[in-house]
Amino acid sequence: MSGTAQARGARAGAGERAGHTGRPARTERAAHTAHTAHTAHTAHTEHTEHTEHTGSGTDRAGRSGAGARHTDRAGAEHTGTRHPHPHETQARKTMSVPLRFRLNEEDVEVHVQDPGAPLLDVLRHDLGLTGTKSGCAIGYCGACTVIVDGEAVPSCLQMAGLVEGRDVRTVEGLGGPDGLDPVQRAFVDKAGFQCGFCTPGHIMALRALLDGDPEPGEERLRETVDGNYCRCTGYVKILAAAREAVALETAGPGAPGRDAGEGER
Ligand code: FES
Ligand code: FES
Repeated sequence: MSGTAQARGARAGAGERAGHTGRPARTERAAHTAHTAHTAHTAHTEHTEHTEHTGSGTDRAGRSGAGARHTDRAGAEHTGTRHPHPHETQARKTMSVPLRFRLNEEDVEVHVQDPGAPLLDVLRHDLGLTGTKSGCAIGYCGACTVIVDGEAVPSCLQMAGLVEGRDVRTVEGLGGPDGLDPVQRAFVDKAGFQCGFCTPGHIMALRALLDGDPEPGEERLRETVDGNYCRCTGYVKILAAAREAVALETAGPGAPGRDAGEGER
């Protein structure tokens, strides 16, 4: 027998073992997969979904009627897995969960669809606090910096669900009726910005630094400023603002220039 004839014979044999003659059909391979899929979650899910979706009682293996349904149920029982109906899955996707935390010294509750979304999106889109900027969205540029439990963090990398019960501060929470925060004041007085896109990030990073150490040395100031990418001002004025912020912070409340601008004094 030639090699080709041998191969053909082997395929025919495989078909016969599978209850067919000739080349094993695609449905046979599917039947085998479906059969072994009692322990394989993915294949079983495909099998079940197809049967439920079409409502025809015909599965990918070509089996039809009550037998197919019976196998589906048996499979579900065997694996102990309950597969959600597609409508249930859709309902879960549109459900929102409450997220409660302290924001700028107020308790807030917001309903989010995805607790795994970045805090940045929740602040800007759900809470309307657009002072926090979205730059790179990968934790590199610092534009989105906020303070969480006293630490400066990139809110684009902070999972929203993980701030539940924690303390969050954004640039909107600085200053008050008595005037600007000393760091804000310093940026205004030293003109430490041009387009201003990076400014909230710089201010929040410096605010966190001064909260932990009101008199950081030049090196720490430079390190902090270095973590925030400015696209237009250049760092000479930003560093001048950072040094001024230290001066105003250490001068204490009520010191000349701390809470008011040049024209307001
Ligand atoms: S937007 Fe978050 S670090 Fe750039
Ligand atoms: S002031 Fe424009 S990016 Fe810094």
